[in-house]
Amino acid sequence: MKRTKIAKLFDPALVGQEVSVKGWVRTRRGNKHVQFVALNDGSTIRNIQIVFDMAQFTDEQLKSVTTGSSVHVEGILVESMGKGQSYEIQARTLEIYGVADPEKYPLQKKGHTLEFLREIAHLRPRTNTFGAVLRVRSALAFAVHRFFQERGFYYLNTPLITASDCEGAGEMFQVTTLDLNDLPKTEDGKVDFSGDFFGKATALTVSGQLEGELGATALGEIYTFGPTFRAENSNTPRHLAEFWMIEPEMAFYDIHDNMDLAEDFVKYCINYALENCKDDIDFLSEMYDKELIERLRSVVDNSFARITYTEGIELLQNSGHKFEFPVYWGADLQSEHERYLVEHYFKKPVIMTDYPKEIKAFYMKQNADGKTVRGMDVLFPRIGEIIGGSEREENYDKLMARIEELDIPMKDMWWYLDTRRFGTVPHSGFGLGFERLVLFVTGMTNIRDVIPFPRTPKNAEF
Ligand code: 4AD
Ligand code: MG
Repeated sequence: MKRTKIAKLFDPALVGQEVSVKGWVRTRRGNKHVQFVALNDGSTIRNIQIVFDMAQFTDEQLKSVTTGSSVHVEGILVESMGKGQSYEIQARTLEIYGVADPEKYPLQKKGHTLEFLREIAHLRPRTNTFGAVLRVRSALAFAVHRFFQERGFYYLNTPLITASDCEGAGEMFQVTTLDLNDLPKTEDGKVDFSGDFFGKATALTVSGQLEGELGATALGEIYTFGPTFRAENSNTPRHLAEFWMIEPEMAFYDIHDNMDLAEDFVKYCINYALENCKDDIDFLSEMYDKELIERLRSVVDNSFARITYTEGIELLQNSGHKFEFPVYWGADLQSEHERYLVEHYFKKPVIMTDYPKEIKAFYMKQNADGKTVRGMDVLFPRIGEIIGGSEREENYDKLMARIEELDIPMKDMWWYLDTRRFGTVPHSGFGLGFERLVLFVTGMTNIRDVIPFPRTPKNAEF
């Protein structure tokens, strides 16, 4: 008999029919006449209740049906008389795939802390919380593709191993096949990478943007969606060493088109989750964050505030609020500053533009004032920066001047500069940190809890 996923069982048309379900036992209770098992198969946050009439089953059989055990049950789906569920299955057959020893299986009934669950990240997807988070994450990934595909963007795969540091922050994980215990050296005592796998020093990418620009200046509108690596030693609830980033890049977009796209994009994804992940979001809201749904709706329904960096600095200076980090023109905004603007002042997401060039990357389009660049950050309640992007400097001479100013090794950049040499166009793009979006939508507070296997400083378990 064909298996029905539990998500598909809650259907009046199936009542009275024989069904086959397979999954993992959440709980078992009952007496010598009747036993009730709550079964979950990961397809939904909801469990199906299975009723075992003990006239038809032996105690010996049911003894193995412990929390975490995997079973296959066939029986009739009926409307439930009991409280807390609408349907249940009256079991006819029971097959046990694998027992989970109650003495050893760590996920017993009682609620565990998120900290404890991080230590058993290999099993935590079997909890309600992580089941919900991972389903929402999957739906959001689908929404990302759908948004861009519906608009005629092409999905471009950019390399994970690269020789260029897009953000120029020097936070790259090196990739090498050289013997670290016996490194070849050049005459001036530096490591000689000429014998390395790629014949030069390489690292894991911090961004697919530079290659994305090559795609956009050929295909028009592209997006990337892939793993991104940063060796920044920030142990915060918002940073991962390995995270997923979505980077659209569009020919013929200026900064305003870029802002419009960014706003439409995040709203679309959040709305998609609200419409398609109701059970999971309701659960997360109930468990962790009573204002979650209201907050998500409010982001979808209201337009984002748009201000320049200079206006932002003035607002902060005139706020009368005491900040830990000083506020002055030229300072990189700290998350306390971003959150003040978003959560207290505007009470909605803020897109900030036109930052001092010193605190932004080399590729951003320079403004006529000679001081600022057409960068934009989208700032979200509870998250801070969720998107970073810019209009790009499309003028070859201006871009070169900036590259020289910042002492970026030119020989590595020739291919990028070709976009400005041959048929350069105004263009723009941005990067959305996927886990920060998942954080926002699920109401979780630590980024380690929205990716199945987090990579953070001193942690690469599982
Ligand atoms: O602001 P960032 O560094 O921008 C770029 O990488 C550009 N190349 C994007 C572009 O214009 N195509 O990173 C973009 C976003 C941030 O806003 C943040 O959401 C996320 O990536 N991010 C991280 N997320 C988790 N852990 C980290 N260590 C992150 N660093 C950046
Ligand atoms: Mg940024």
